[in-house]
Amino acid sequence: MPHRPNVTPTTRHVVSINDLKNKEIDNIFELAASYLKELPDPTFSYRIGHSTDLASRYILATLFYEPSTRTRLSFESAMLRLGGKIITSADPATSSAAKGESLADSVRVISNYADIIVIRHPRDGAARLAAEYSSIPVINGGDGSHEHPTQTLCDLFTLKQKNKTLKNMNVAISGDLRGSRTIHSFVYALARFGADITLMPAKGMELPKHVDARLREEFGYVPAPRSTYENDEPSIDAFYITPEEPHQLSLIPNQNLVDVNIRIREKLEKIDVVYVTRFQKERWSEKEQHYPKIDAKFLKGPRYSQTSVLHPLPRVGELDVSFDTDRRAVYFRQAAYGVPVRMALISLLLKLHKNKSLQRFNDGFEKSDHLVYSQPVDVGVQCVNANCIVREPSERQHAKNKFYVIGSKPPHKCKLRCVYCETDIDETAAEHFVFADRSKGHYTMDIRWLQEAAQEKMKDIVIFPSESDAIAEGLHSKEDRAASTHWRTKSAS
Ligand code: CP
Repeated sequence: MPHRPNVTPTTRHVVSINDLKNKEIDNIFELAASYLKELPDPTFSYRIGHSTDLASRYILATLFYEPSTRTRLSFESAMLRLGGKIITSADPATSSAAKGESLADSVRVISNYADIIVIRHPRDGAARLAAEYSSIPVINGGDGSHEHPTQTLCDLFTLKQKNKTLKNMNVAISGDLRGSRTIHSFVYALARFGADITLMPAKGMELPKHVDARLREEFGYVPAPRSTYENDEPSIDAFYITPEEPHQLSLIPNQNLVDVNIRIREKLEKIDVVYVTRFQKERWSEKEQHYPKIDAKFLKGPRYSQTSVLHPLPRVGELDVSFDTDRRAVYFRQAAYGVPVRMALISLLLKLHKNKSLQRFNDGFEKSDHLVYSQPVDVGVQCVNANCIVREPSERQHAKNKFYVIGSKPPHKCKLRCVYCETDIDETAAEHFVFADRSKGHYTMDIRWLQEAAQEKMKDIVIFPSESDAIAEGLHSKEDRAASTHWRTKSAS
C-alpha cells in the first residue's frame, strides 16, 4: 500500500450512517434546531435566514463526480451560512479525473487545499476509499448505490421535528429499494431508532440481499409472515417488526398465528410515513416498467390519513405534483432542512462548537469487532459487486480487497463483507472459504486458524472462494499435510 502522508487515525469521517452513534445523531439535530432558532428566516420556520462567522477560518471542498442539486448546494449554503468558504469540483469532465487521475490521488491533494471534503461518486465504496487517503474529514454525499448518510440525517430530522420520536413508527418505503442509496442508509437508521418498516418495492427492485440480512442479523428485525398482509395489500413486499416490540417473540414460526395476524393488521392500519423514491436509472441497464406512482388516490384510505409523505428528490413522475399542496406533503421542507442539518454536521466535524456536550461528538463510533482482512486485488476472493470502487482500474494500485470477516465456529457459515461497498460474500452449501498461508503452501477451512493467524501477521494470508481455487494455486490442505507428515514420521520409526 503506498504511503499516505498526514493521515491520522483520529480524523473523523461520515461515510455510512453507521459511522454515527444515535447520541451523535441527536446532537446533530439539537444543533440544527438551534441554528434554525438563532439564525431564523422571518417568513419560513424551516429556513436559515442569517449567517454566523463560526467557520470563517475554514474551507469546504465539494468533490462531485455525479450530478447533484440539493446535496452539493445545501452543503455549500451551509458552509457559507457558517461564515466559511467553499471550493468546488462539480463536474469530473473539468477536473483531472478526465485525464485519468485516481480518486486516491485527488483526495490526497485536496486535503491540502481545504479543511473538510464532501464527495459524491458513482462507485459504491468510493467515499470509504477517499476517507482512507484524506487527512481531513470526508463526508459521503452519495456513493453509487451504497449509502447517502446525510440525506438520512435530513429525513430523520424532518420526522423528528414533527413527531419527536421514531420509535414504533410504521414507515413505508416505495420504489427502487435496490438502487437507491438513500434507502440503504435510511433503513439502518430506522432500525436503530426503533421504527417498523413496510417495504413496497417496484417489481424486481427489492432491498439488496445484504441490506436485508443486516436488518435481520445486526438489528434484530423480524419479518412478519406474508400471509398476514398479502391478500389486501398487494403493494407490500415485506413488513419488518422492530426488535423492541414486546410481541416480537410471537412472530417466530409456529407461535399463535391468529394472534400475530391481529397484531400486524393493527400495525398496518396506520402508516405514519410513506417514503417515495425515483427509479435510479443511472444504476440499471434495463428500463423500468410498472413503477409505483404515489398520488392522492393511493393515499386516500384511513391508514394514510395522518401519513407524512417524504421524498429525497429529485422526482421524475413517481410522486404526483398535484399532491404538493396536500398537508401531508413534507418533501420540500425535508430538502430545506438540508442546510441546518449540514451546518450542524460540518460544525461538529470541525469542532467549532463550545458547548461541552457537543464536544463529545468526536469520540467516534464503536469500532466493529469483526476481523478486517486485506489482500491485493488480483489474488483470492474479490468483491462480488461489479460497481465497487476496488473494481475501478484507476484505483487498483491504491485499493486492496479488504473484508470484514463475519463468521463463527464451524460448522456455521462465515461471510466476508467488503469494507468499501459493504456487499456480503456468503459461503454456500457447496463452497466454503479457504484460508491459505502462501508462505507455507497450505490452506484450511477452519476460520479459527484465520483468527489466530490474524493476531500475528496477515501478509501471506489469502482467502480463496473455494477449495478448488486454492488447489489450482498449488496449495495443499493443512490437515492433509499434517496427516501425511504424521504418517511418514511413523513409517520412518
Ligand atoms: N437528494 C439528493 O441527493 O438530491 P441531489 O441528487 O440533487 O443532491
